[in-house]
Amino acid sequence: MKRVREDSLDQKAPPEEAANSKVPQHIAIIMDGNGRWAQARGKKRVFGHKAGMERAREMAEVCGELGVKYLTLFAFSSENWNRPKDEVSFLMELFATSLKNESKKLHKNNVKLMVIGDKDGFDRRLRKAIEKAEALTQDNDGLYLQIAANYGGRWDIVQAAQALAEQGAEITEESLQSKLVTADGVDPDLLIRTGGEQRISNFLMWQAAYAELYFSDALWPDFDGKALKAAIEDFNRRQRRFGKTGEQVATASD
Ligand code: IPE
Ligand code: IPE
Ligand code: MG
Repeated sequence: MKRVREDSLDQKAPPEEAANSKVPQHIAIIMDGNGRWAQARGKKRVFGHKAGMERAREMAEVCGELGVKYLTLFAFSSENWNRPKDEVSFLMELFATSLKNESKKLHKNNVKLMVIGDKDGFDRRLRKAIEKAEALTQDNDGLYLQIAANYGGRWDIVQAAQALAEQGAEITEESLQSKLVTADGVDPDLLIRTGGEQRISNFLMWQAAYAELYFSDALWPDFDGKALKAAIEDFNRRQRRFGKTGEQVATASD
């Protein structure tokens, strides 16, 4: 029974099966709940961040196997600098060491890694680690893994508008979108938030305009491949109308 369900999510499945069980092209995830996960175990919050990092790695593997093209993970928001100093330092250290430890494996798996966010906010060492990991994987064409770090949706829109203003370019939806940090990609189809909160927290404000939202009560370190597949199945039950009527959409897909 389980095998059948997994197969139906596989893009390599026969066309008739794949037709009603599509894998989203771009999944974006707000990985929330690390701190509470650790605290529920009587441990410090940072213990949850470590477990959350393992989950992120696993999620990239699962998405690669499922044939998802883009996975964007919200790792650190513009607002997360306001956390206690120790926690911020731990997260920066974890980010740097993870980049070093994981990039070879990501490269081997044909993953293209990109860090989206205001990199100027990071220290020199972390910026170097990011550059190195991005350079190593830049020609890969498997999963495009975007790590949103020091990212804020409002910052993204503002920096795009500033870039256009500097060039004296006309401001249109197309020109603005072309300057966003995600310009080379596609908008997320499915936006997942774990940890029980139902909010965007300044994630992909522009890009998520038409994303299907999926909220899970699972704390991020508990959100496994099975939970991801459940989210994808839920996504597949929805009708994406993009402003049209249900009838119009149903006729078009006949
Ligand atoms: C998400 O987990 C990770 C980051 C924001 C870095 P949290 O650290 O926000 O965990 P909770 O929400 O406090 O449980
Ligand atoms: C959102 O989580 C940011 C990340 C997951 C990186 P937060 O825990 O910072 O969000 P709020 O503050 O509860 O909205
Ligand atoms: Mg949180």
